[in-house]
Amino acid sequence: MRAIQYTCCGDRDVLHIANPDTPRISDDEVLIKVRAASLNPFDWKLRSGMLGDYFQMEFPITPGRDGCGEIVELGKNVDRTQLARGQLVSFICSRFQRGSLAEYVAVSAQDSVVPVAENLTLQESAAIPVVGLSAWNALVETAEIEAGMRVLIHGGSGGVGSLAIQIAQHFGADIFATCSSANVERVEALGARAIPYDCVDFTSEVTDCDIVLDTVGGKVHEDSYKVLKRGGRLVYLLARPFNNLSAEYGVEDLQVNVLGHTANLRNVMDLAATVALKPIVGHVLQPDDFEQAFELGESGKAGGKIVLTIDGWSNISKTNKESMTQ
Ligand SMILES: NC(=O)c1ccc[n+]([C@@H]2O[C@H](COP(=O)([O-])OP(=O)(O)OC[C@H]3O[C@@H](n4cnc5c(N)ncnc54)[C@H](OP(=O)(O)O)[C@@H]3O)[C@@H](O)[C@H]2O)c1
Repeated sequence: MRAIQYTCCGDRDVLHIANPDTPRISDDEVLIKVRAASLNPFDWKLRSGMLGDYFQMEFPITPGRDGCGEIVELGKNVDRTQLARGQLVSFICSRFQRGSLAEYVAVSAQDSVVPVAENLTLQESAAIPVVGLSAWNALVETAEIEAGMRVLIHGGSGGVGSLAIQIAQHFGADIFATCSSANVERVEALGARAIPYDCVDFTSEVTDCDIVLDTVGGKVHEDSYKVLKRGGRLVYLLARPFNNLSAEYGVEDLQVNVLGHTANLRNVMDLAATVALKPIVGHVLQPDDFEQAFELGESGKAGGKIVLTIDGWSNISKTNKESMTQ
């Protein structure tokens, strides 16, 4: 099969197309023929080497944490009442070395694979798992959001933030969100009062929050203590290092466990199936355009999720075969 891989950390030029064996599944896994895969900041952070202290790197690594595809094989312990051959599913890769930028991926069937929500496109179904689970686990699992709470979401125009706004809206919260001035309209359309971080200091625009979701870190994290009410919760995905001032401000500082609670992926997809919970897909690219995809992601200005249509590889092969037989 074809896969995007790298065999050492570095800049984008370590990425290449490789031909690894199609993965063999264990009894608890399913084999998925990937239709589309999304990129997440984790993919370029890991490739660049900046997460080397947190993860044991075993090369080669296939990037891509999530995607959407068709089940082609089921391990013998997989619950056949839930998953079936031929089913279209969204999934989160259970091992970071075996990512979704590949024609086939083996994924743990327990909690990491869910049927697609019918109202999402193929690209949206590929884009939603990691960001949806991150937003859900931050607001619902960790911060225990309730109706009427005042919630500030940092990075409201980003992959996680844009879904967090929609989830907070579903729970009936009063929502503020930071973003660049270029994205104010987009964030307000999702249901938040936008605070453009490049024009104003958010600490002068909002106070007395029950929850702040930090997707940015650094100074944004430290300033966020000031806008929480006593007893409020500052939940974050990846903010270290920062000064933990929670005791001084009388608030809780809680790191979100995203991949430790993949069971919530089903809640995310249920919500996507019943109400408007949609990821913003900014770019859909062919798998051969992987360098451009990473460049866009790393720029921080992609303006939505980046999705690679992995089945573009099979379609190209079909076209080549057809032209050879003509
Ligand atoms: N721990 C985990 O398992 C986990 C899971 C998911 C994500 N994460 C982390 O969470 C972060 C966000 O992920 P993502 O997928 O949402 O990334 P993303 O789609 O690239 O979004 C990042 C957003 O941050 C906004 N931003 C940049 N500087 C800002 C500032 N000073 N104040 C407020 N907003 C600012 C940008 O807004 P503009 O475009 O409007 O400038 C952008 O939309 C990443 O660092 C990622 O690695 C961690």
